Amino acid sequence: MQSCKSPPWILLSLRSSQRSFAQPVVFLNKAKRHHVLLVIKERTMQHIIPSIGLGTFRLKDQVVIDSVRTGLELGYRHIDTAQIYGNEVEVGEAIAASGVPRGELFVTTKIWTDNLAGDKLIPSLKDSLAKLKLEQVDLTLIHWPSPGDAVPVAEYMQALLEARNAGLTGAIGISNFTIRHMREAIAAVGAEAIATNQVEIHPFLQNRAVAAFAREHGIHVTAYMPLAYGKVMQDPVIARIADRLRATPAQVALAWSLRQGYAVIPSSTRRANLEANLRAASLALTDDDMAAIAALDANERIANPEGIAPAWD
Ligand SMILES: NC(=O)c1ccc[n+]([C@@H]2O[C@H](COP(=O)([O-])OP(=O)(O)OC[C@H]3O[C@@H](n4cnc5c(N)ncnc54)[C@H](OP(=O)(O)O)[C@@H]3O)[C@@H](O)[C@H]2O)c1
Repeated sequence: MQSCKSPPWILLSLRSSQRSFAQPVVFLNKAKRHHVLLVIKERTMQHIIPSIGLGTFRLKDQVVIDSVRTGLELGYRHIDTAQIYGNEVEVGEAIAASGVPRGELFVTTKIWTDNLAGDKLIPSLKDSLAKLKLEQVDLTLIHWPSPGDAVPVAEYMQALLEARNAGLTGAIGISNFTIRHMREAIAAVGAEAIATNQVEIHPFLQNRAVAAFAREHGIHVTAYMPLAYGKVMQDPVIARIADRLRATPAQVALAWSLRQGYAVIPSSTRRANLEANLRAASLALTDDDMAAIAALDANERIANPEGIAPAWD
């Protein structure tokens, strides 16, 4: 281990660089040391959660089977499902038929709001595992904070931690959590237990306050609906960048999220789109491109279900 005296802003540049952390930098000041350890944890999570995953929201029956099968064929190794999607059985079928070794796969499911009570969460996760035909998922998320806080955050976070300790899930995390909910989740189980906060992020809803809070606490961010459910394809700024780079608007939007360190989980029913989206990882945006896309933020939220969505930051 190295020691050095540096101001906190150096940490930020280390964080966004691609440098290896084989030799963790430890600051002399106690508070800063804590900060550095969080950075290392965040990197570990980025390593664990594949940066490009395959979303399955809305996809049912043969459509989801085909999407997952094609995705696995093309090289996707992270599949994102949820209890409420009603497709865990078909996702499980596609995984089983793919022949991809279990150890190479990363499967995420999410606990629906009806199953958040302390005595319901684990049985519901066992039900998901049976549907998926898996002994363990890699990541289990709380899909939404309990509407109206009917179930306290501490109750379901502790049940989720118990599920992890029982080996039902490799990691646990949260989704659609506001800063207030993240604070409560951290108080309940500790930030180090929370692998990711999966939230809506795309050029038109950049969710900066939530992402910054998560980052400060070493919680990795997963961007869901990273294509704004197709809307990025119609934006002239993104189209211009795509033309210059000989890429597609979808690739530009995904590269924009990836460059900020987020995992992305776009969905597609088309082989050509699945393949192109996977290639977004090699697209290099310039700082000017990043700035032009940053200017598109319009707080335009797509996933905002009445009676379920919390009071957003
Ligand atoms: N945690 C949560 O509460 C939450 C909420 C919403 C979503 N999610 C997750 O996030 C995933 C992604 O979100 P999403 O599926 O709603 O939206 P999305 O990934 O932003 O957009 C999907 C749409 O974009 C199209 N598309 C994909 N790739 C394309 C390409 N290269 N070129 C042109 N069009 C393309 C797809 O059409 P084609 O099929 O024709 O390609 C589809 O209509 C979900 O599937 C789900 O797993 C999580």
